[in-house]
Amino acid sequence: MKQDMIVILDLGSTENTVLARQIRDLGVYSEIHPHDITVEELHALDNVKGIILNGGENRIVDGVVVEVSDDIYTCGYPVISIDHPTAKCDVKYDTLPSDEVVKDFLFNVCKAEANWNMKNFVEDQVELVRKQVGDRKVLLALSGGVDSSVVAALLVKAIGDQLVCVHVNHGLMRKDESENVVEVFQNQLHANLIYVDATERFLTKLEGVADPEEKRKIIGGEFIRVFEEEARKLEGIDFLGQGTIYPDIIESGTKTAKCVKSHHNVGGLPEDLQFDLVEPLAQLFKDEVRACGIELGLPAEMVYRQPFPGPGLGVRCLGAITRDRLEALREADAILRDEFAKAGLDKTVWQYFVAIPDFKAVGVRNHERSMGYMAVIRAVNTIDAMTATIERIDYDLLEKIVDRITAEVPSINRVVYEITKKPVATIEFE
Ligand code: XMP
Repeated sequence: MKQDMIVILDLGSTENTVLARQIRDLGVYSEIHPHDITVEELHALDNVKGIILNGGENRIVDGVVVEVSDDIYTCGYPVISIDHPTAKCDVKYDTLPSDEVVKDFLFNVCKAEANWNMKNFVEDQVELVRKQVGDRKVLLALSGGVDSSVVAALLVKAIGDQLVCVHVNHGLMRKDESENVVEVFQNQLHANLIYVDATERFLTKLEGVADPEEKRKIIGGEFIRVFEEEARKLEGIDFLGQGTIYPDIIESGTKTAKCVKSHHNVGGLPEDLQFDLVEPLAQLFKDEVRACGIELGLPAEMVYRQPFPGPGLGVRCLGAITRDRLEALREADAILRDEFAKAGLDKTVWQYFVAIPDFKAVGVRNHERSMGYMAVIRAVNTIDAMTATIERIDYDLLEKIVDRITAEVPSINRVVYEITKKPVATIEFE
């Protein structure tokens, strides 16, 4: 391992991630592990320099106070404790210590080096993945989202041709998105990529389906089926690569913290797929994943891509999806993104997109009455997607976007700007 590590043992604090961030921001790599880790598991982590026992409000689980095993104190690493009156170590704090105190522990007590950076992280993960995988093969569903793209780039670096990527185009991607995945991974990084154009299959299944939950179920279910079909065609695959990142693990619940929502990567795998998992980003926060992508040479547009729901344009082509409305949506959305990029808003606005309801409105085009779709523009800012505020788009820019959409997408004759916060609205419409 290139980097020294401080291990945080989770004894029910709600601030494990805050502490891990604090330590990483001081230049030392830090990982959070469950309280019942064994000494052998600790030694196997390699380069551990010290341990912090992090207790807190979830410390009592099913009536039992969570403790670490006694030999953790005597296994040779410096140990301090936070919110842990019964800890058998000399140094104890009631609340998260200040930077000065943490620095003293890291550099004076543990003699850790401030060598946490993405270059070292990538080198460490490359080494670990090679050790885990050996000469066997890894399969990865490459959606083109930030996490799966970064994991793909890292695995290509680690094991080259032993990685098989499958990109399923469900026909609900944004304009040029699947093409970009092929360009970057097949043509530039020379990854072993299987591209499956399943557009017809998805759109046929979705025909006439207007209920949002039903649409989501069809898209999610079909996605897994297409992926499984591809997986079963391949031989000798032992591992499944996953773009699981640290917040996914936290939200799916730890031994002390409750489940917020079971995350697709963590909880939603079909049980009969017999693979071991390769998850090299599992310890990274989102901004660190992006930095890792840049370190691996991925294009900035891919790494700083705005969030995009798994069901894609399917939940923005409202009601029952029709092909002509889906195409109009794809074009209008591309225009909005282009204008936002030209105005520099792609770097500051969290999420912005077009949705199209399933009705037509009256308009006049070429001196004739005509029926056309209505494009809805939405642009929001948020920190955690639980609440969201509206981006106040400049009026001149709005007019330009309206002019372009109505001129370049003939089936759209109205554009509206939706300005409802979350709550009471959600970010997406379905
Ligand atoms: P809502 O609409 O619930 O969306 O306010 C919150 C955030 O989550 C995104 N979103 C999804 N992301 N799969 C995803 O990966 C999904 O099914 C999904 N649905 C919504 C949405 O774009 C917003 O950023």
